[in-house]
Amino acid sequence: MEATHKGTRNVIVVNGPNLGRLGVREPDVYGSDDLAALTRLCEGWGSELGLHVEVRQSDDEAEMIGWMHRAVDEQTPVVMNPAAFTHYSYGLSDAAHMVTDAGLPLMEVHISNPSARDSFRKYSVISPVATGTITGMGFYGYRLALEAIAHLLGA
Ligand code: DQA
Repeated sequence: MEATHKGTRNVIVVNGPNLGRLGVREPDVYGSDDLAALTRLCEGWGSELGLHVEVRQSDDEAEMIGWMHRAVDEQTPVVMNPAAFTHYSYGLSDAAHMVTDAGLPLMEVHISNPSARDSFRKYSVISPVATGTITGMGFYGYRLALEAIAHLLGA
């Protein structure tokens, strides 16, 4: 297990498929800043909130499921942008459910507002098992999610 920083809680921020392409992927929808910029923002917001934030990205459903299992084992709260897995991955939904079932906060974040887009984006298999969902706020949504976690942890 990664060492907990003195006086802080570890939080993982996990990003699903194609979010490694932020900055070049549909900048009109997702903005022109890349994943490295998002990572720096999340780390900075985390330290303001007394949270040690580790940002991850994967295009691999199995890897993301494994991260949820580890979050349960290590008692780590989660911010998750499941990207396209949002709309169809029952495997990731079940894994996310294990996190909230373990009493850990799991905040779902979307940079865009999926409800205002294609019809296949209107349903999330993650929302029913998440602690809360933030959509349509750009990268700032991650800050709101981290604030929610800090609030829930009483940090
Ligand atoms: C997204 C919205 C999803 O519908 C899409 O598949 C993504 C990104 C968002 O952050 O707005 O990859 O999760």
